[in-house]
Amino acid sequence: RAKRPAGAPDKKLARPITKVGVIGAGLMASQFALLFVRRLQVPVVITDLDQARVDKGVAYIHGEIATLQSKGRITADEGNRLRALVTGTTDKSNFSDADWVIEAVFEELGVKQDVFAEIENYVSPEAILATNTSSLSVEKIGAKLAHPERLVGFHFFNPVAVMPLIEVVNTPQTNETTLSTAMVIAGKLRKNAVITRDTPGFVVNRILAKLLGEAMHAVDTGTPFEVVDGAIAPFGLPMTPFELLELVGLKVGAHVLDTHHAAFPDRFFESDNLHKLAEHGKILERDAKGKVTGFDKTAKKIV
Ligand code: 3HC
Repeated sequence: RAKRPAGAPDKKLARPITKVGVIGAGLMASQFALLFVRRLQVPVVITDLDQARVDKGVAYIHGEIATLQSKGRITADEGNRLRALVTGTTDKSNFSDADWVIEAVFEELGVKQDVFAEIENYVSPEAILATNTSSLSVEKIGAKLAHPERLVGFHFFNPVAVMPLIEVVNTPQTNETTLSTAMVIAGKLRKNAVITRDTPGFVVNRILAKLLGEAMHAVDTGTPFEVVDGAIAPFGLPMTPFELLELVGLKVGAHVLDTHHAAFPDRFFESDNLHKLAEHGKILERDAKGKVTGFDKTAKKIV
């Protein structure tokens, strides 16, 4: 009998998924909610703090379904079926029959801990819980859970529809059923899944934080944005550092740098300027179609 590779959980332990709950209706959550509905073809319930945020998330998903239809990737019937599977609500009691509940709320440890502690009151004892945190400790996120063995990290990358990877973060407490379910779901989403240790930034963000932190530090110490981006552009990265920072979101980017600096102060930079740029909202100047045309004048004054 062929042996499983080391670290790979037994797929036979995976729980079937008949309903998905998504906590948070921001851009990242809405992107993966669409992927769940499209690839698992099960009801997906999205929640957030208020109905306006929920409606925005659902509108995004409907918009993306319309785009898939207009590109001929799905038929009108499939589009209708997918739309019918998506529900937006602020009422978490809708999670009572969900088998898989995944969170993508604000990247603040206390917020995420409270979200999971609260959600445990609504979900079934068998439900598996996942967090899309970009760099926080998954074990600490589950610190207030009665059953931390059912929590796993499930980390998507922007843009979710296109990036092929999911990091499945295995904490010392995650049990094999949870890990196995996460791996099977990642496969159904047609993503490559890697199992990572529960360390700051896991694998990918640890490496990206180095690139983005050094790019930001160069600016912080007097090198203009144009020189940094222009110098790295010919190296063949799909996006320059400042484009990538805008793609992940400047607030998320600043948070990722802070987390890495806190964990490894001698290896990673933090950047006050990045926080100021996040408050301002942008670094790049773009035309009406979103194509980068240069750097934002106010952003240049900030640094
Ligand atoms: N949403 C949905 N689809 C998108 C999209 C988006 N935001 N952006 C691009 N796409 C789709 C396009 O519609 C197109 O689909 P089609 O083939 O059906 O028409 C396809 O992707 C290719 O688009 P483009 O022609 O614009 O492709 P590009 O060659 O310009 O590539 C890219 C776009 C894939 C985003 C590329 O620039 C890239 O790989 N950039 C780097 C992205 C990256 O490193 N992401 C990781 C960030 S780290 C992170 O997210 C972790 C977090 O924790 C911080």
